[in-house]
Amino acid sequence: MSNYARFPLTLVRGKGSRVWDDQGREYLDFVAGIAVNTLGHAHPALTAAIAEQAGIMLHCSNLYHIPLQQQLAESLCRLAGLDGAFFCNSGAEANEAAIKLTRKFFHDQGSPRRTIITATASFHGRTMATLTATGQDKIRQGFDPLPSGFAYVPLNDVEALERCIDEHTAGIMLEPLQGEGGVNIADAGYLQAVRRLCDEHGLLLILDEVQTGIGRTGSMFAFEQANIRPDILTLAKGLGGGVPIGAMLATARVASSFGPGSHGSTFGGNPLCCRAALTVLDVIEQQQLLLHVQQCGERLQKGLRKLQAGAPLVAEVRGQGLLQGVALHEPCAADVIHAARGEGLLILSAGPAVIRLIPALNISHAEIDEALHRLARALTQPSAGDKT
Ligand SMILES: Cc1ncc(COP(=O)(O)O)c(C=O)c1O
Repeated sequence: MSNYARFPLTLVRGKGSRVWDDQGREYLDFVAGIAVNTLGHAHPALTAAIAEQAGIMLHCSNLYHIPLQQQLAESLCRLAGLDGAFFCNSGAEANEAAIKLTRKFFHDQGSPRRTIITATASFHGRTMATLTATGQDKIRQGFDPLPSGFAYVPLNDVEALERCIDEHTAGIMLEPLQGEGGVNIADAGYLQAVRRLCDEHGLLLILDEVQTGIGRTGSMFAFEQANIRPDILTLAKGLGGGVPIGAMLATARVASSFGPGSHGSTFGGNPLCCRAALTVLDVIEQQQLLLHVQQCGERLQKGLRKLQAGAPLVAEVRGQGLLQGVALHEPCAADVIHAARGEGLLILSAGPAVIRLIPALNISHAEIDEALHRLARALTQPSAGDKT
């Protein structure tokens, strides 16, 4: 089907942060499968773990205990300071599970609440519930009737949020740093105020860290930088380093509402994807990649700001760690992406006027510098008009 507007490029191989097309041309990969290839391509430890696990057991139904799933649940809960985990296959499914759990939690308390508040410009997925949770009309258009139970407020506006909360409100669902919607940072003060409001009104704070989680912003989870903790946390993308896996974590109080039969997934948390995720977590720890992401993020952001000085098209550079955005004065992100590809650099957009750089967490300093050079050339090309 033609639901993807694909670039005229066929990638067939990758190693680290470099990929090759079917003509043998090499590119620096600052897309990383849209924040999925945490350890780059063909990482030896991840490759070996997946290969070994394939020879032991690929899949096992959730009808049975799965030791690797248990191990991964324990690791993630310890890292996030949460108590229970549910595994699925994607970000949308993780958020779908979070929405179901929120509703079930209030149902079990005998006081059903119907509304989850989300932010405008958010992105939470493409299933019916998660596209409705998504605060962007263009994602929802054409899919009526949409499920009810969602309201939207602008990000970083505490008063608007307070005005939106009423007796029907069940929870607030946010990305700590909006990825798809434009690389928009939720201020630490705002996130703390949201946590306070949730506590005051008995609401659940759901943080969607599908894109920001697993080290992307320089801490294992972005919420740590605001010194808060959610009631529910969703993860996917970088968790499996390229193997499809999603997770929803929750506090014990909330998690207990998912009793037997309340939710499930055939593939979710199977031995293969859990082994991959455990390996990703191991490598992040062993190679001190969180510190590396902080250093590389700073280097990338500094370089982009320097580049801004010589590129009148650039309005603002913003982001955290290795999720950086370059806001443009004009909606010509597609032109810049096209020009960058010509220079051997793969980047992507976050809306029509923002380009996004999300390389693997183990990108080298030299590769960052090389990408900045290529982007500098792309930004100064008079290529407007060709949007392929
Ligand atoms: C913050 C966020 N939530 C949810 C999703 C949906 O994830 P998936 O495409 O794995 O369903 C995405 C995907 O871009 C995302 O960035």
